[in-house]
Amino acid sequence: MRSRLGHFVFLVILAVLACFIQACQVNSLSSITAEPTNESAADDGIKPYDELVVGYSQIGAESEWRTGNTTSIKEEAERLGVELIFSDGQQKQANQIKAIRTFIAQQVDVIGVSPIVETGWESVFQESKDAGIPIILVDRRADVSEELYTTYLGSDFIEEGQKAAKIMVDLLGGEGNIVELVGTIGSAPAIDRHDGFRQITQEYPGIKIIGSESGDFTRAKGEEVMGDFLQLYGDQINAVYAHNDDMAIGAIRAIEAYGLRPGEDIKIVSIDAIRDAFQAMIDGKLNATVECNPLLGPQFFELALQVVNGEPVPKWIPSEESVYFPENAAELLPTRKY
Ligand code: AHR
Repeated sequence: MRSRLGHFVFLVILAVLACFIQACQVNSLSSITAEPTNESAADDGIKPYDELVVGYSQIGAESEWRTGNTTSIKEEAERLGVELIFSDGQQKQANQIKAIRTFIAQQVDVIGVSPIVETGWESVFQESKDAGIPIILVDRRADVSEELYTTYLGSDFIEEGQKAAKIMVDLLGGEGNIVELVGTIGSAPAIDRHDGFRQITQEYPGIKIIGSESGDFTRAKGEEVMGDFLQLYGDQINAVYAHNDDMAIGAIRAIEAYGLRPGEDIKIVSIDAIRDAFQAMIDGKLNATVECNPLLGPQFFELALQVVNGEPVPKWIPSEESVYFPENAAELLPTRKY
């Protein structure tokens, strides 16, 4: 009797031990094969992309560059599963400021903004800082103190102006009359592309900038202003420097309507490197385009996540950009994404 009881107790202990060993194996296996999930990132206090809420204040849709930029931001948000609250400022600073105030009220995690002009942002950026919401400047700088924004992602507009000027000096052989189609007055690219260009041309006494007017970065305004320049100066104009390709394309129309040959009678250098600029170079109507990269979506959201998770980021992340000429425009056009 005693030995039967002993046998039974022994079997129960064996069964309990077997269950315990199996449970341990399952646990250790799942810890080896587990993927880092959004849930586990959230458990660590690290915010994953699909919990990130981003407010984005865009300028508008003034150019092909801008629509390429908007597409890049929206597509990347979608790809990553980020909640993007996007606002189109329709070319008005007041609309952008209103959008930022709405994002603050909505308590988004981070705000991206492309400021239409440089000045007038202190108060609203301060409000965002007070609410603990970081600001990332995208594409254009704002003239505010450094503690009011976390980082700037975008181009060196001064350098773009310098590159355009060097090409222009070469095209003109160091001598000639230039008219300048300026971007939106008070915007960072208009200010810097104007200054960068002159930093180079001032070294050449034979180069004269005989006219400089804003075409507001649009084709229609570029065409109108170029028409006015032609009425004023006619064939004294040797070249056009346009702060973006859209205005250059407007200028090409005005030059043709006036009866001259763009790219030949009047040389043209512009900035952005949009697809239509490549086509204009293939057609022999544009002499060069300096690249300004709008495809900032992937870098922007990577930065936004780093900032929200408290990782250090540089104060400026400059874009890498090239210069393009008619010689290889046909080969490159199919590869251009904007
Ligand atoms: O800020 C970038 C500039 O804005 C682009 O060069 C121009 O096309 C756009 O409107």
